Amino acid sequence: MTISGKELSARLKADMAAEVAAFPARYGRVPHLAVILVGEDPGSVSYVTGKAKASAEVGIRNTTIRKPADIAEEELLGIIAELNADAEVDGILVQLPLPKHISEERIIAAIDKTKDVDGFHPLNVAALWQKQPCTLPCTPKGIIKMLKAAGVEIAGREAVVIGRSNIVGLPVAKLLLDENATVTIAHSRTRNLAEVTRRAEILVVAIGRPKFVTVDMVADGAVVIDVGVNRDPETGKLCGDVDYAAIEPKASVITPVPGGVGPMTICCLMENTIECFLRKQK
Ligand code: GUN
Repeated sequence: MTISGKELSARLKADMAAEVAAFPARYGRVPHLAVILVGEDPGSVSYVTGKAKASAEVGIRNTTIRKPADIAEEELLGIIAELNADAEVDGILVQLPLPKHISEERIIAAIDKTKDVDGFHPLNVAALWQKQPCTLPCTPKGIIKMLKAAGVEIAGREAVVIGRSNIVGLPVAKLLLDENATVTIAHSRTRNLAEVTRRAEILVVAIGRPKFVTVDMVADGAVVIDVGVNRDPETGKLCGDVDYAAIEPKASVITPVPGGVGPMTICCLMENTIECFLRKQK
């Protein structure tokens, strides 16, 4: 079975649109998401465009601020300070990666944690690891939603995450642990990777290498979640980190690329923006 993130996110966005439609009468305005894009990396441009499109679908106000790749860190910090101080901005997202001369750590830490719709601020990360209420990072949150929507049992099962990034690998491992899976995090230095991944009843792949996971690395009936968004070097088309065509017949559940995890990430960003907005209304 293929889990369509595209279809699931469309349903969730329709529900959110109905919810947001009632906000002007109730709160006097709609949620407002500010997105900052530095430079013109094609992947980042496409993500930011997708975020603006989803905002329009849900009825969220979107301000996208585009700045050249050579912007000074201080100028970027100035923009964030203004957005932090603006009572009509509920969510702030700085598209990553940033150019090398800018410290991502400094930029993320400068965002007001109550407007941190990515869940990347150190205080939100700390809250996640201490099981305190927090804004959950969008991709991991979307992955758990997909597993639940597909009726996948998580508790007690063997989950393997390939990748240990702050954006996906580490937080998705923590969320799977919170769902009571037995979690292994594999990475570039893991020995006998195929042996480790074959143990997985749930395999989450977030490494950013086209078709890196081959059919021999996957157990019969495994649930395979593909977070990768790559260009296939042979066809030039978008492809994931797993060899979808070969693995789909062997997996019990698999997510496609495109149309899998990606739309769910954006959907969860919309949800996080609404959550940040509602928290302020109390
Ligand atoms: N770059 C890749 N994924 C993400 C994400 O979830 N948020 C931000 N801000 N940048 C990203």
